[in-house]
Amino acid sequence: MATKRKILATFALTYANSTLHLGHLVGALQGDMWSRFQRMRGHDCFYISGSDSHGTPIMIQAEKMGITPKELITENHAKQRQDFIDFLVDFDSYQPTHSSDNQTLVEEIFKRHVKQNNIVQHTIKQFFDPVKNMFLPDRYIKGECPNCHAKDQYGDNCEVCGTTYLPTDLINPYSALSGAKPVEKESLHYFFKLQNFADFLTQWTRQGHIQETVSNKLDEWFKDGLREWDISRDKPYFGFQIPGETDKYFYVWLDAPVGYMASFKHLCNQRTNLNFDDYWNEDSTAELYHFIGKDIIYFHALFWPAILHGAQYRTPSEIFVNGFLTIDGQKMSKSRGTFIKARTYLDHLNPEYLRYYLAAKISDNIEDLDINFEDFTQRVNADLVGKFINIASRTASFINKYFAGQLSATCTEPALYNEFVQMGNEIENRINQMQFSHAIRLIMQLADRANQYIDEKKPWTLAKDPTRLQEVQDVCSMGLNLFRVLMIYLKPILPKTAKQVEEFLNVPELSWNDREKPLLNHTLREFQPLITRIDPKQIEALKMSAKEDIEKTITAIETPAVATTTNQAETSAHINIDDFGKIDLRIAKILEADSVEGADKLLRLKVALGEETRQIFAGIKSAYKPEELVGRHVVIVANLAPRKMRFGVSEGMVLCAGDGKDLFVICPDPGAESGMKVK
Ligand code: 2FM
Ligand code: ZN
Repeated sequence: MATKRKILATFALTYANSTLHLGHLVGALQGDMWSRFQRMRGHDCFYISGSDSHGTPIMIQAEKMGITPKELITENHAKQRQDFIDFLVDFDSYQPTHSSDNQTLVEEIFKRHVKQNNIVQHTIKQFFDPVKNMFLPDRYIKGECPNCHAKDQYGDNCEVCGTTYLPTDLINPYSALSGAKPVEKESLHYFFKLQNFADFLTQWTRQGHIQETVSNKLDEWFKDGLREWDISRDKPYFGFQIPGETDKYFYVWLDAPVGYMASFKHLCNQRTNLNFDDYWNEDSTAELYHFIGKDIIYFHALFWPAILHGAQYRTPSEIFVNGFLTIDGQKMSKSRGTFIKARTYLDHLNPEYLRYYLAAKISDNIEDLDINFEDFTQRVNADLVGKFINIASRTASFINKYFAGQLSATCTEPALYNEFVQMGNEIENRINQMQFSHAIRLIMQLADRANQYIDEKKPWTLAKDPTRLQEVQDVCSMGLNLFRVLMIYLKPILPKTAKQVEEFLNVPELSWNDREKPLLNHTLREFQPLITRIDPKQIEALKMSAKEDIEKTITAIETPAVATTTNQAETSAHINIDDFGKIDLRIAKILEADSVEGADKLLRLKVALGEETRQIFAGIKSAYKPEELVGRHVVIVANLAPRKMRFGVSEGMVLCAGDGKDLFVICPDPGAESGMKVK
């Protein structure tokens, strides 16, 4: 090994308002596998994370449960931590952001920025809930969309037509917490002047610290201009008080990433030879990597480097962004029963199945990553068990039975062995570049090669001939040595199996370079069964439990608590039959559907309405892939005044059912034809 690197890797701190779901595992496992790989190569690599303790949703959730925010975050912190441990995620430190270490660091960073004139104060006007006596974040204000007039839309954007707006633009706004009509109220806020860092960030974002696809996204934000960032919140708020203030707190997103530093500080406090400054000082030569999801790029690639740089700390070496997790091609959804908690998975399946499956899918891009359970079962059973584990199970028994565990004294196929060793360089390169899926493909090709070798030599036939026992020992020793090399490559992904294999091989912890020399003249322990196949019944049971979880918790996890009953009574008076008659509802057939560039939520539909065709923009992209919709019959409001949007004119509205999270297009029974009137 050339030089020993000092590496600090972090995984995005998970919100402490709930427990983990499988989506959290994508980045956490990626970071864990990568960190384990670096450690195996002999580098110092610490992997840290923690829970994100602050913010309004945590305060509201605790209130709903009748406990204090501190109690809520303590409970969820412990659960999250245990879930990570059981998924074999090896965090060196896992700390809540609600800690005195974090508070001290945040205050220090804030003061440094104040000194450099990067913080300003302005009075702003915001919606205030007179019943709850608190300012309302945009997500807690609902009302009628000013554009398409859909009811019960959130304060920042309409889920029906995709328009974004200010909460003050909503028609008949109401508080999602109390149902009360919010009033506008002034308050003095603190702002971080991100624009002071425009030159720094323009450079930083083009210096290879982020994937290229992410840089393109950032370019769009640069074009829009960097703006001041509101870093304060009024009481009541669960967070850190701003020094010198009694009623104002730091916004959760200011102290959350500082939590990375605090979590590391905690580790330094426990280890005598680990120095915080070595990793965080401006001139640090250590490397810093953040594993995050694509929804929090803005915070990590713009605010965070600026906050660090301005406070004279080092900036990240690289940010690794992963896509979202989908299940069977759909985003995780409670109503479709595809929302899977980490714990529910663990109740039914081996964590290494998921680790392997995700590794087989992780690439260096930010595309979403799908768990298709049929494919999952097939890959684990055919590749992991059928190819990899099989090499050991078909050779170990001979060595144990005929040779008392003793391996041959010579490597009889040095060329083949060397092929396996050499491939390690390519595998190493791929993992280094976060192309785990490519690495797994190479590993499985080698596994095929090893099985092919055993198939050709047929030790089971040789063993029947007492004069050829030496060959049996040589072939099986060779097979086990090839298996050992593959175990080294898979060790970051399958740490539990690796431990069992180390025991069986009777060797100390395997490192990356151990592959270079085969085990010769060495005594093994008794072979114990390793990973076993997935029984499809386990998958069925998991899916069933996931559905039951949803039924049990659906009301508990609905955030925000939408107490709209009073409000709806106030805002939606009865209509009479004539009013209803004014709405021309028709069956339409979707002829074409495609995404709209520049609109995250919209699909452009071309629909047939009898003889006529129309273009409709529908805010249903989050729930449907365009190709799923083509050919379907749907219900539309046909006499809605045509609406000019940024992307073209929309000539109608598609009816959907939804709860603010999921959306379901309303389709007639088979037989209904396009153009028919809905009565
Ligand atoms: O999006 C989230 O889940 C945040 N809790 C991530 C915070 S990452 C870091 F900045 F702490
Ligand atoms: Zn709308």
